[in-house]
Amino acid sequence: MIGFGSESGRPEKAGMTGETAAKPGHGRGKPKADKHKTAKPIASVPGGGGRKLPRLIPEATIPVRIPKNKKTPVDHIRAILEEEVIGQTRAIDAICRALIRSHAGFRNPYKPVAVMYFAGPTGVGKTETARALARALHGDFRKMIKVDCSEYAEPHSIARLIGSPPGYVGSDLPVVFSKEAVETEPNTIILFDEVEKAHFRLHNLLLQIMDEGRLTLARRTKDDDGIVDFTKTIVIMTSNIGATLIDNLMKKHRIGFKTPSASMEESDQDIYETVKEAMRRTFPPEFRNRITEFIVFRALPREALFDILRKLLNISATRFANLGFTLHLSQAARDWLVDRGLDMEMGVRPLVKAVEKYIETKLAELQGYGQIKPGDFILADVAYDPDEGEERIIFKRARRTRRKSKAEKKTEIKFEHY
Ligand SMILES: Nc1ncnc2c1ncn2[C@@H]1O[C@H](COP(=O)(O)OP(=O)(O)OP(=O)(O)O)[C@@H](O)[C@H]1O
Ligand SMILES: [Mg+2]
Repeated sequence: MIGFGSESGRPEKAGMTGETAAKPGHGRGKPKADKHKTAKPIASVPGGGGRKLPRLIPEATIPVRIPKNKKTPVDHIRAILEEEVIGQTRAIDAICRALIRSHAGFRNPYKPVAVMYFAGPTGVGKTETARALARALHGDFRKMIKVDCSEYAEPHSIARLIGSPPGYVGSDLPVVFSKEAVETEPNTIILFDEVEKAHFRLHNLLLQIMDEGRLTLARRTKDDDGIVDFTKTIVIMTSNIGATLIDNLMKKHRIGFKTPSASMEESDQDIYETVKEAMRRTFPPEFRNRITEFIVFRALPREALFDILRKLLNISATRFANLGFTLHLSQAARDWLVDRGLDMEMGVRPLVKAVEKYIETKLAELQGYGQIKPGDFILADVAYDPDEGEERIIFKRARRTRRKSKAEKKTEIKFEHY
């Protein structure tokens, strides 16, 4: 082994310690490399047989650090994740680090590319991140194998994943973890959503995937050994473990969308510890130890909701534009929606529902009643509703004007002359 000068496997003293490397040319007189060329045999090296082995590690003197402006192949993935998932920078950093490691080849080739565990409060972007990663890696957020673990709470349901032996009921049905689905493309994402809800037999399958990078199907044939290779997959588990504890913690610290970011930073650490502890109680050590990235998503601050609203409205506006309408929301309407969407226990979901209920459904109704027509410009604003006794979203339609033809314009000018 390079650099190990003794049979005991200990690093050779000179050249292996950081001390030597950090002080280039520290020794007086001749440079050390020359000294080694003429090194005399020394009997004191244990197991050295009276001969000193040549030193193979050169002195490291060139400082290396991560450049600021250079691009890595993972940068475009980061850009997509940041565009889709708002306010979870640390989670995105951790994912990108795992991908860079695997891209550089610094990973065990007999295990999945990465095994990530996403935890944290409900509705803050865990599943959304897995979807965004699928879009970044495969161009479509649906291109992943998604296992909704709540559907695998019964022991027999595991057969849907790995099949059942020949002769058993359903032994001819297709399986989720078929070779074709798992092995065809590199970096296939396997998402185990809400992993704690599955039966422990599924956890055992997961252990096998994490540990050996492969899984043996219940069904084998003469030509097919039934062994499915998971070494090119990215395994993601999402979990709500500790959700109740997180809720209590958030209430205690009064964390929520209205909390200033500084105090949220402080409580992020508390949430992290709580989740780790809850996980310790749910999964055995051999399971926890095989997770390569343990990522705790944070409760989102109020400012993040405006960014998420912008993203949601972009999606609605695009759908709407395809039907021929142009949609715009005033700042008052945006504030109104964010206030409706504020719910620290439910995360972003109430905001998603508010956009559906107060914008999309209302516009669909207006179109159904013929109040708006393709080609219209629609402005959503807020106004006081005397019937309801409160403010609500209202819609205004810009009057459509027919463009005048050149001939008409000419006639007009003539008319003005008279
Ligand atoms: N950080 C975020 N950035 C962008 N959109 C988000 C974010 N968090 C949540 N959303 C929106 O809220 C919806 C619910 O989020 P998601 O499904 O990721 O929640 P989750 O964290 O997986 O929660 P649960 O643990 O309850 O499954 C998503 O479809 C998305 O539209
Ligand atoms: Mg989820």
